[in-house]
Amino acid sequence: MARVGIVGLGYVGLPLAVAFAQEGCEVVAVDLDARRVQAVRAGDSYVEDVPSAQLIQVRERLHASTRYAGLAEADAVLVCVPTPLTRNREPDLGPLMEAARALAKVLRAGQLVVLESTTYPGTTRERMAPILEESGLAAGRDFHLAYSPERVDPGRTDFTLGNTPKVVGGLTDACADRAEALYRLVCERVVRVSSPEAAELCKLLENIFRSVNIALVNELAMLTDRMGIDIWEVVDAAASKPYGFMRFEPGPGMGGHCMPVDPFYLSWRAREFDMTTEFIELAGKVNQQMPYHCVSKVQRTLNDEGLPVRGARIAVLGVSYKPGVGDVRESPALKIMGLLREEGAELAYHDPHVPEVPELGLRSAPLEEALHDADLALIVTAHPTVDHALAAERARVVVDLRGVTRGTQARNAVRL
Ligand SMILES: NC(=O)c1ccc[n+]([C@@H]2O[C@H](COP(=O)([O-])OP(=O)(O)OC[C@H]3O[C@@H](n4cnc5c(N)ncnc54)[C@H](O)[C@@H]3O)[C@@H](O)[C@H]2O)c1
Repeated sequence: MARVGIVGLGYVGLPLAVAFAQEGCEVVAVDLDARRVQAVRAGDSYVEDVPSAQLIQVRERLHASTRYAGLAEADAVLVCVPTPLTRNREPDLGPLMEAARALAKVLRAGQLVVLESTTYPGTTRERMAPILEESGLAAGRDFHLAYSPERVDPGRTDFTLGNTPKVVGGLTDACADRAEALYRLVCERVVRVSSPEAAELCKLLENIFRSVNIALVNELAMLTDRMGIDIWEVVDAAASKPYGFMRFEPGPGMGGHCMPVDPFYLSWRAREFDMTTEFIELAGKVNQQMPYHCVSKVQRTLNDEGLPVRGARIAVLGVSYKPGVGDVRESPALKIMGLLREEGAELAYHDPHVPEVPELGLRSAPLEEALHDADLALIVTAHPTVDHALAAERARVVVDLRGVTRGTQARNAVRL
């Protein structure tokens, strides 16, 4: 049974560590964040998809540490560190380069290294391999190197690591063979491609596909708002076509660690090849506009009630970037709340997954309390456990950015 090393114990790394440990592998898991390491050791999960009970079950085989030394014992090391953008919206490979440098110091012959972080085509071969080779070992000869994108969709239960096909591209055929054999322990199906570059681009294609299609339906939502047509009704009707159409929902914009970030890894790389990736830029532009459109919808709705934004009591329901999770990274809710506060709105919020939003100095209030005396309830992210009907009952008016008031009695609801 393989001994598996994981670098980066976040949304991607922690579920992987648990999956391998559940299969009976000894897992060495490294994170620079001592609090996370401590939490894993204590069996106290901070990732929704990993119940604490699961961590406790695999405690004997899951060895978390802030030090890389233990990785020398692993047969395979999977790297799952963040790949954010810099302030100038360019790829920030800092965490990845740092992880590669630390790994190079403990790398030994015969190991397999797989990069899982989302990144532009060429990263594994051109950026990671040379740093790992500072160990004196040659990639593809002395150690194996591959790229395999993580496809986890936090909060999702129908498709998980086990039943979502895993794409793998190796530096050599032998690298891909090793990686395929490893992932077969935890995944039902492995899809091989001929190179790390093809696997890197595959992940970006998937995310860009979503970003572009969400932008398309969001642009139509802005148009239908002016035309007085219900965008949800249009999407429902189009989705009745059994072929050639795929449903995407309009919403307040894109959030999370992936969608607002990953496509720009490719547009940056494309510039080296004298290409401007127009679809990526346009989709980013449209999706970034959505929070402003939503704020204007709130302004107009309050205006119809004879109220200015200044002094209006607005209860925001759902501030994480998607239902069922507590991740607020790049969440459009934060942008919308910031804009409304600049205009003088008095904000309260309810989100069972997000206890506080320090940048706005707010804590989640119980639903009834958040809605108490609210002039307007704003549904930004519709968590399935939240009673949105109560919002329609208690608030003077509801602005629904997710279409959850459709088909209800709520006469005071205004939708995106
Ligand atoms: N979150 C998702 O849904 C998702 C889905 C698919 C792919 N990805 C990609 O996977 C990668 C990781 O994303 P995530 O959401 O798990 O990030 P995360 O921020 O939740 O976790 C990353 C972890 O890496 C640790 N870390 C940073 N630098 C380190 C280093 N040098 N050595 C050891 N640990 C280090 C951090 O402390 C953190 O705990 C990113 O490239 C992301 O784009 C994420």
